[in-house]
Amino acid sequence: MITTAHLRDKFAVVTGASHGIGAAIAERLAASGVHLVLVARDAGGLDEAAARLSRRHGVTVRALPADLATAEAPTRLAERLADEGIEVEMLVNNAGVSTRGPVVDGDPARFRSLINLNVNALTELTALLVPAMVARGHGAVVNIASTGGYTPAPYLAVYAATKAYVVSFTQALWAETQGTGVRVVAVSPGPTKTPMNPRGTRSSEAVATTVLRALSGNGPAVIDGRANALAALLFGRLLPTRLSLAVARRMLS
Ligand SMILES: NC(=O)c1ccc[n+]([C@@H]2O[C@H](COP(=O)([O-])OP(=O)(O)OC[C@H]3O[C@@H](n4cnc5c(N)ncnc54)[C@H](OP(=O)(O)O)[C@@H]3O)[C@@H](O)[C@H]2O)c1
Repeated sequence: MITTAHLRDKFAVVTGASHGIGAAIAERLAASGVHLVLVARDAGGLDEAAARLSRRHGVTVRALPADLATAEAPTRLAERLADEGIEVEMLVNNAGVSTRGPVVDGDPARFRSLINLNVNALTELTALLVPAMVARGHGAVVNIASTGGYTPAPYLAVYAATKAYVVSFTQALWAETQGTGVRVVAVSPGPTKTPMNPRGTRSSEAVATTVLRALSGNGPAVIDGRANALAALLFGRLLPTRLSLAVARRMLS
């Protein structure tokens, strides 16, 4: 169990922090006195966010622009953090992209890039930064998954499969890190109003609240919002797969 009091005056790395859910998580952490490293591709947007958070909350905020979908980016980011002497107390793997449409019409290169970001960058950053947390005996990793990770999603097939990976990987890491003092948890938003999903119904701020609450819990995975949790239970566990797929196909087509 970790509270923001444990994180105060320490550094959290938040990927995808320039807008949407990542920006809301960064805001909440800064308001709790946590120093930040913000990562996203848009250097200008990151600089603006860093200046705003630092001014508003009096914390140190570093903006480290990176395209995490490229193969070398996670290692470079870890090296940069080490060079700057930044000890990472918390990693929030939030950066993610989605693609919609039938697989037969999809662009394989776009799928590769999506998997690179949603799966490879998240895995590599975790593997690069968690060993030091385990060695110190404290730290936290929050991996942002999705309710789409609990059930296959026609027309969001690749995206949902990457999020199923995030849930599975994070739950396994949670088990491996029991007793180390490191808190590992997957947080799954459902439809949330952000640039990725303008028609989403939950707010990024609500998801950020769930992230902070998940930190102070003990379980391996948390779903944001009661209705989303019920839907994930229904489609992912209770309904037979064929029925769940048929309903999802109708809803998402
Ligand atoms: N919104 C939803 O309904 C919803 C539902 C379930 C799960 N989620 C998950 O929540 C997370 C955040 O989603 P969101 O809705 O807040 O998305 P968003 O508003 O589109 O924000 C995505 C963030 O990721 C960054 N990003 C995108 N590609 C990147 C790359 N190649 N390298 C580094 N950073 C990159 C973006 O900044 P740049 O463009 O500047 O790089 C931005 O800061 C994602 O993992 C998403 O899958 C969202």
